[in-house]
Amino acid sequence: MDEAPLLSIKNLRIAFPIQVADGYSDLFVVNDVSLNLGAREIMAVVGESGSGKTTMALATLGLIPSPGCIKNGKILFNGLDLLTLDKKTTRHYRGNRISIIFQDPTTALNPTLTVGDQILEAYILHNQNSYIKVQELVIDLLVKVGINDPKRIFDSYPHQLSGGLRQRAIIAMALICKPELLIADEPTTSLDTTIQAQILDLLLDLQEQFGMSILFISHNLALVSQFAHKVAVMYAGKIMEILPAKDIVNKSVHPYTKGLLGLLPSIETRGQVLPSLPGSLSEEDVLSLGCPFANRCPSVKEICHVECPSLSSPTTRHQFACHAVPTINELL
Ligand SMILES: Nc1ncnc2c1ncn2[C@@H]1O[C@H](COP(=O)(O)OP(=O)(O)OP(=O)(O)O)[C@@H](O)[C@H]1O
Ligand SMILES: [Mg+2]
Repeated sequence: MDEAPLLSIKNLRIAFPIQVADGYSDLFVVNDVSLNLGAREIMAVVGESGSGKTTMALATLGLIPSPGCIKNGKILFNGLDLLTLDKKTTRHYRGNRISIIFQDPTTALNPTLTVGDQILEAYILHNQNSYIKVQELVIDLLVKVGINDPKRIFDSYPHQLSGGLRQRAIIAMALICKPELLIADEPTTSLDTTIQAQILDLLLDLQEQFGMSILFISHNLALVSQFAHKVAVMYAGKIMEILPAKDIVNKSVHPYTKGLLGLLPSIETRGQVLPSLPGSLSEEDVLSLGCPFANRCPSVKEICHVECPSLSSPTTRHQFACHAVPTINELL
């Protein structure tokens, strides 16, 4: 997939102000993030809670909550920098060409409108068509997202649906305008395991049918490495490693990625309590001038506490930011 990327995030920095002894300081929750997503490509963004995954995704849609602020960077979509667009043009892109399945499913649907009416509204916001025609489009899409009785679901209110059906309706709402890019922020975490697998299969099937790209945000490295094309591992607002998903188990090199892999159940650990990555992400780590993972890293060196490693060459398929790992040439 060497064609020009559909989405190219370059050196993105997003900060929230925090109170410090002598006033306010910037806490960079997305810190110099660069990544490329090709057309029809699925990229998973993985990392522990608080690593900045959602904030990065919201920036793509111009939805950073106040007082958060984009301090630096570009978000190129088909070569156009989304951060330079006025509000009206940003709204044209949002929901139409770039769509999101929000992390919190309880706020994704309006409880006072029927499912059909809100999917219909999402379409009418960007397209003109007769009510009957749009209704047909919505019913067709409800069938495509695996709903057997679309007319009943069209007229139902969100609270009348099971979690699985609600998530299918949310997916339909995200896809009604046939976006080129879908951001799926933990789209299955609120569901039980069987339904999770069904929804994931559905998303992958729709990705092929619609020919769209997906930025798939997740905590679950094991899950995403089964279907994504590439994986970006994030920690404390930084990209730690990006590599093809098929190489995650055998070729990942960053101690953080390896730590996350240590959480994966294997035949040896089946039935045992899984080891967890020791420690947790703290504000102090985010503010550190060194590598934010240094305090938890089993391979830490002196330099890691004082100098943050930069991501290796952007031209290679496998990039990582770590002082403790040999250069990529030594790995080949
Ligand atoms: N509205 C806000 N005000 C202040 N800080 C915020 C706000 N939203 C996010 N943050 C901070 O930004 C950091 C990154 O949060 P974000 O939600 O992007 O992480 P995440 O990787 O999506 O986590 P999770 O896996 O829990 O969803 C966190 O430290 C969070 O506290
Ligand atoms: Mg999140």
